[in-house]
Amino acid sequence: MFMVLVSKWKLAKPIDHHLLKNKKEKARMKFSDLFRKKSISKILKEIELGNSDAENIPLAKHLGVKDLTAFGIAAIIGAGIFSTIGNASADGGPGVIFLFIFTALACGFAAFAYAEFASMVPVSGSAYTYSYVAFGELIAWIIGWALIMEYAVGNVTVAVSWSDYFTGLLDSIHIGSIHGFHIPEWASIDFVSASKHFSTATIEIAKGSNVSDLPAAVQTGFLAWKGAPEIFGLKIIADIPAIAIIVFITWLVFIGIKETRNAANAMVVIKLCVVLLVIAVGIFYVDTENWNPFLPNGAGGVLKGVSAVFFAYIGFDAISTTAEECKNPQRDLPRGMMYAIIICTILYVLVALVLTGMVKYNQLAVGDPLAFVFGKLNLKWLSGIIAVSAVVAMTSVLLVFQLGQPRIWMSMSRDGLLPKAFSRIHPKHKTPSFATVVTGFVVAIPTLFVPGEIILDLCSMGTLFAFVLVCGGVLKLQNSPDRPEGKFRTPYLNGKYIVPCLMFVSAVLVFLFNKSWVENFFSMDSWELSKDKIPMWLFFALCMVMAILSFAKNLSLIPVLGLIFCFYMMAQIQLKSWFGFLIWLFIGLAIYFSFGVRNSKLKSRS
Ligand code: ALA
Repeated sequence: MFMVLVSKWKLAKPIDHHLLKNKKEKARMKFSDLFRKKSISKILKEIELGNSDAENIPLAKHLGVKDLTAFGIAAIIGAGIFSTIGNASADGGPGVIFLFIFTALACGFAAFAYAEFASMVPVSGSAYTYSYVAFGELIAWIIGWALIMEYAVGNVTVAVSWSDYFTGLLDSIHIGSIHGFHIPEWASIDFVSASKHFSTATIEIAKGSNVSDLPAAVQTGFLAWKGAPEIFGLKIIADIPAIAIIVFITWLVFIGIKETRNAANAMVVIKLCVVLLVIAVGIFYVDTENWNPFLPNGAGGVLKGVSAVFFAYIGFDAISTTAEECKNPQRDLPRGMMYAIIICTILYVLVALVLTGMVKYNQLAVGDPLAFVFGKLNLKWLSGIIAVSAVVAMTSVLLVFQLGQPRIWMSMSRDGLLPKAFSRIHPKHKTPSFATVVTGFVVAIPTLFVPGEIILDLCSMGTLFAFVLVCGGVLKLQNSPDRPEGKFRTPYLNGKYIVPCLMFVSAVLVFLFNKSWVENFFSMDSWELSKDKIPMWLFFALCMVMAILSFAKNLSLIPVLGLIFCFYMMAQIQLKSWFGFLIWLFIGLAIYFSFGVRNSKLKSRS
């Protein structure tokens, strides 16, 4: 018996050793798998072949440079300029235009990086595919996951604002004996907001306030909770208009890119005309006294509006998701993006100047600032037109984002990181059918219970994060021998000396002109007081790393500035949104490690 055991042990020993070696090898392979990259030539070949994994059905190619510029404007001008600019102007005063210009520069720098990638890799995945090429699979997955924050979660914010404007508009309609079409409060608000406002109102009423004295949002929530029908004791409260518009837009995006394009083009014409009308009429009502002081709350007041102002610019990158539906993507995508950003920046700065010139900045803390200022000046007709066009403008944002999300999922699915169904193309409509329908659900469900303002920050975080990585990707490929020639390349300015000098000059200026801020920033307080400084500490660390890398590797100035500007804006967003975003990324990583890493196409090829 003993002999048998010994002989078995002797036999088993080398086998175990072998297994162990194999296991180690596998583990090693898995770690390197996380950084496996897609080669651009392979991606281009896949498109040429009509992508055999998508059952040989290529997307329909109908888009030219004019359509792309229109798509860009369709995605950019929306809830930001018609709604969130109000609070940003009330905090920052007329000086909010500096934030618009700064944000435009950051987006412009990032747009160069997007344009360069879009001309090298003209496929639907946008920043996701670009990161796959530059950094490898894990970072690509993280970006694809973060982009859900931009498109799907961003659309939740827009749908909720859309519903606010739409219900207000219906209320204000007066035809003959009809005085407004009122949608009950319980059918136009999310469950969580209604519950929260009801609690606030109950406390205030107990203290002796009247319902009519409470802020409008609290009144709506209170009435919604009180008037809601019940089923088995559960209050039925839902933002029905928000859900209805998402269903309609999902259907439009489902039935075809041509239909989507035509609808987007028509909506862009309407909103451009109205924004121009606002500027043209408003300019006659500007009282330059209102621009004094220009920075009533200093730089701090202006910076409070970072999320809101950045939100107003989000969208230009969305057009890169239509690369496979462009007639000449390598030429037209960069142009479309740049034209859209330039046009929108000019309009935004003019609108901000007109708004803060027409009334005192501190009156602008309203959800519909454009309609509000004209209503205040008794120009009710224009105020009505603005309200209608705000609804149209937000519809077009919804349309482009609802178009972008499924195309990113489609690319991730083609790479094996998401189930195959996500890359299924509808045989008749030639659109990614399954992914489009899932997007509809992913946007519609949170509108039932997530308050819009909570996700504004998350949307800005996700998008800025993608911008930072796309700029980083351009820098990473800058000196790579594998870098293919696209038809567009970011103008090269050597950052070797410029970047460190800019850092030094900025530090000296901040020290000279804002000494109290510097002292406060570097003072070592308790954790409670210090923790909010973490994003800015990270920013300073990044600046130092970029200065050293620029010096050592002759980095190109424009993407370096894009990366730094975008990270600076991220650092201005409150810490709790950083935590929210990190939790989101961890959920994404859990999905990647349980599905993507094992099903990746690159793995089966290796
Ligand atoms: N830029 C888009 C808007 O303002 C997201 O609605």
